[in-house]
Amino acid sequence: MQGYSRHRLIALADIADGDFAEVEATLDGDAESLILYRDGDHVRAWLNVCPHAGRRLDWAPGKFLKSREGLLVCAAHGASFELGEGLCVAGPCRGSHLRAIAVSVVGDEVLLGSCGSGFSRELFQDSTDS
Ligand code: FES
Repeated sequence: MQGYSRHRLIALADIADGDFAEVEATLDGDAESLILYRDGDHVRAWLNVCPHAGRRLDWAPGKFLKSREGLLVCAAHGASFELGEGLCVAGPCRGSHLRAIAVSVVGDEVLLGSCGSGFSRELFQDSTDS
């Protein structure tokens, strides 16, 4: 990550463990909504865009559905995503992935990486990577 500056998204303490948060970030000059999921001291992030029909997954801003099985459920048509790689395991886009975004936790801050003068699409993680 040499040469990257980082942008603060949210305090880790503002996300309950096992819960979600929604933040906006500027990616390639566009304001995008991100889903953040906290798992202990780790946070994963995806674009808040469902691969089924491109809708937001939250039923109200920052309010996400989590099933009893621990899946993120899209409020639009019920696609269900596991929270490791954002893979849709049930519903109309089964087999598709949410678009992963690189974030990291430094101290009590959740940070978005950026490169040079702006965010680079290169920082979109291929969600098939592990
Ligand atoms: S837009 Fe998410 S399930 Fe249809």
